[in-house]
Amino acid sequence: MDRIVVQGGTRLEGEVRASGSKNSTLALMAATLLAQGESRLSNVPRLRDVDGMLELLRALGANAEWVGPHEVRVVAGEEINPEAPYDLVRKMRASFMVLGPLVARFGTARVSEPGGCAIGVRPVDQHLKGLEVLGTKVNLDHGYVECTTGGLRGGLVRFDMNTVNGTQNVMMAAALAQGETVLENAAREPEVVELAEFLNRMGADVRGAGGDRITVRGVAELRAVNHTVAGDRIEAGTLLCAGLITRGDVTVTGIDTADLESTLEKLRQIGFLLEAGPDRVRARHDGPLRGILVATAPFPGYATDMQAQIMALLCTIDGSSVVTERVFENRFMHVPELQRMGADITLTGRSAHVRGGSRLSGAPVMATDLRASAGLVLAGLAAEGDTVVNRVYHIDRGYERIEEKLRSLGADIRREA
Ligand code: EPZ
Repeated sequence: MDRIVVQGGTRLEGEVRASGSKNSTLALMAATLLAQGESRLSNVPRLRDVDGMLELLRALGANAEWVGPHEVRVVAGEEINPEAPYDLVRKMRASFMVLGPLVARFGTARVSEPGGCAIGVRPVDQHLKGLEVLGTKVNLDHGYVECTTGGLRGGLVRFDMNTVNGTQNVMMAAALAQGETVLENAAREPEVVELAEFLNRMGADVRGAGGDRITVRGVAELRAVNHTVAGDRIEAGTLLCAGLITRGDVTVTGIDTADLESTLEKLRQIGFLLEAGPDRVRARHDGPLRGILVATAPFPGYATDMQAQIMALLCTIDGSSVVTERVFENRFMHVPELQRMGADITLTGRSAHVRGGSRLSGAPVMATDLRASAGLVLAGLAAEGDTVVNRVYHIDRGYERIEEKLRSLGADIRREA
């Protein structure tokens, strides 16, 4: 099993380009099921999760493949078998987003329940609630969600909490429903906005994405289109933190910096210098640094997917910080590993109290989930000696060739089989 070895202590410098957004890509690939014909997505990141979605689309009977280093092609004809098997869905929860498109286009679907994961129980009740409002009959059968409808009708869906994939799943179904659907307390993430733009280019009528009230006027049919995926705001934030944890000077390009504002704001609060242009951000150390308070929240709040990375950074800042995780109930798996590297962190409920400033020391550590593993690689960049991050398959789910990108900035990092 691959592992990543980081020799800490090198100051990172230079420019690096963010890959396309993983989370946008997964939703866009699910949306291709809504239309017959050929869809092409470009600027697609080369990730294990994308391969997983391609495999799922093929299992459903679509023709789905890579047609270029960062381009995928999907043809979802009439011969789709709307059943998403447990073996594929359990590997990647985002697979559950095929439910809405399948029910909307084919009137029936059978999709394995995704189950929990390392960061939380993660139920899908809001997805099902929304589909039921649109006239879907939902039946839970032996670990599968079975949905049937005689034809979706628009309605008012009020989400009990902000859910990104829930908003996306129901929005996709509503695009082919008869009449108007209103999504209230909808998620405002950039990935929701990009999906709405994609659906509108397919011929849908989605308005208000980016706000917490989205209106969808259903249409009879959608057409397949081509699309270029936006840059990955979480990967970009991770690369900026990688530069800053070494007190370096790094510029990340290929992103819409507006999507990163909550991260940039926290890095400025610590005392780092951030210069943002429309599609690039330069981050560097310039003067005294201090501890801060960070609490994760739905967009435009501070992203939970950036929590482990900023915690690793705060471990190196002289001063006290508090990191509170409000989105997922079990997203501190990186804390015991950071403590193994000498970090002074105390967990109290959903908050981690970080007393930073002591030099981290390299150690063998275990990755437990995608973003936790990114946090450990970052800590390794600042640590004394070697850090060996095991189970890097977690990191390959969401970061394209991370060790090569960090090496291009001067990091002493390698992958070992
Ligand atoms: C998306 O997951 C992202 N995944 C996650 O990124 C991200 O952490 C999360 O949004 C929050 O930003 C993809 O887009 C593929 P939620 P999602 O539904 O949509 C609860 C990464 O690292 N909830 O917004 O599954 C849920 O348990 C991944 O790239 C319900 O209770 O997250 C959580 O506490 C990890 N019932 C909260 O809402 C539901 O039906 C927010 O989850 C749905 C959600």
